[in-house]
Amino acid sequence: MTTSSPGAVARLRDDVVARGLVEGLPAAFAAGLTRFGRPPQADLDALTGAATDLAARLATGAVGEDDLPLLTRVLCTARRADLLAAHGLPTPAYDVLGSFRENLERPLGPRLPERPTAGGRRWPLLGRTVGFPVGVSSCVLNGSAAWVRHNVANGWNVLTYKTVRGRAHPPNEAPNWTVAPAQTASLPPGAVADVVSDPWDWVPPGSPAVSSVNSFGVPSPEPEEWMADLARAVAAVGEEQVLLVSVMGEGDDLAADFARTALLAQEAGATVVELNLSCPNTLDRSAAGVKPPLCLDADATVAVVEAVRRQLDDRTGLVAKLSWLDVDRLAALVPRLAPLVDGIAGINTVQSRVRRSDGTPTFPGRELAGLSGIAVREPALDFTRRLVALRASGGAHFDVLAMGGVTDPASFEALFTAGADAVQAAAGAFADPMLARRCVDALGETLPRSVEAP
Ligand SMILES: Cc1cc2nc3c(=O)[nH]c(=O)nc-3n(C[C@H](O)[C@H](O)[C@H](O)COP(=O)(O)O)c2cc1C
Repeated sequence: MTTSSPGAVARLRDDVVARGLVEGLPAAFAAGLTRFGRPPQADLDALTGAATDLAARLATGAVGEDDLPLLTRVLCTARRADLLAAHGLPTPAYDVLGSFRENLERPLGPRLPERPTAGGRRWPLLGRTVGFPVGVSSCVLNGSAAWVRHNVANGWNVLTYKTVRGRAHPPNEAPNWTVAPAQTASLPPGAVADVVSDPWDWVPPGSPAVSSVNSFGVPSPEPEEWMADLARAVAAVGEEQVLLVSVMGEGDDLAADFARTALLAQEAGATVVELNLSCPNTLDRSAAGVKPPLCLDADATVAVVEAVRRQLDDRTGLVAKLSWLDVDRLAALVPRLAPLVDGIAGINTVQSRVRRSDGTPTFPGRELAGLSGIAVREPALDFTRRLVALRASGGAHFDVLAMGGVTDPASFEALFTAGADAVQAAAGAFADPMLARRCVDALGETLPRSVEAP
């Protein structure tokens, strides 16, 4: 858990008072809690009662460090996480009550005054070297140049720009991202989860036991917009970082559309393209409302990767991002992909049935959504170990970008020790925007396999 600097709560209190926000805070908190549904009345009463008491203490100045957890929840739910961040206090790194668009230009959470580094140490990745090899995987926390800049400042070095498409695509109906407080441990590899998640659920920032579910449906601005933004994102990364750009195709000629979109990313300045072959949130007219991830179909996956490889410049790196696959599927797919790619990334979120505590779907019209965070830690480790073993026994080298359940330095280290060349986080980066710094602080001097800086 991130600790606050002495006096930060008092300074925050003064700020909230000076802005005249105290009186309206309980109502703003209640509006946030009920934004996407209504908690049971007793819960709602208890929470709003606590917020009203807190507001009274804020007014008189009788707040201390012990109030920080509640104050954090109240301000974030009242959509004023920016005030916490301005005082260096932890917040979740995304406003789940705001729209995809609102969040795109507005990274949330504190920004470190100085970028954490591992003292100039470098690690090899995708034909270059990078600083401490921790990153934010393709997700809404890397949806624009503003986010990329923010993440670089906070010590994340391996950044995958959120999946974009060859034409504009709206997000699924909100809510799109909720936490799952009951999922505080990992599922076994291959397990199918029945997840309960209410839109008003809360996990304190910094919690290493965070799990989340999301159903964004891979929204994308139109290419003209994201290509211009991507060019800015490319310019925002320094020599210690690598920026990958995730793309996804759609339509009847899937491989051609993937290739066309990858080419657009390359034209905008991408030096490494990642293919999202593993999205669990693509809408479908089937009963479940969403399609299975593409990588379950090995032939279709290979056809896409071949088409993209043919289309891209030889100098552009190519990474295939997969979901957790069982022993047979992964062993069948990897030897076919290895000669075509520079890296394999995984795992994506695990497609799971997600309901509210009253039994209705958490995400309207979609029974299935993507589970990640600590709930998928063991599947991610299992996948990474098998991927690394397949690399060792196969003929073609590729880098491994591992992700899934990284919420603290130990879970970063577990994937790196399993043989990953870089380790990324989404849910963990959401819960703790300072996670990269914690990894650098804990492991920056000792992490093996570093190389001479060029
Ligand atoms: C809110 C959210 C949005 C995501 N969007 C994408 C995406 O657009 N493309 C993609 O390849 N993966 C996406 N992912 C998957 C993550 O990149 C990552 O593979 C997965 O969440 C497992 O990591 P984690 O346990 O650290 O969350 C998303 C994950 C989350 C939580």
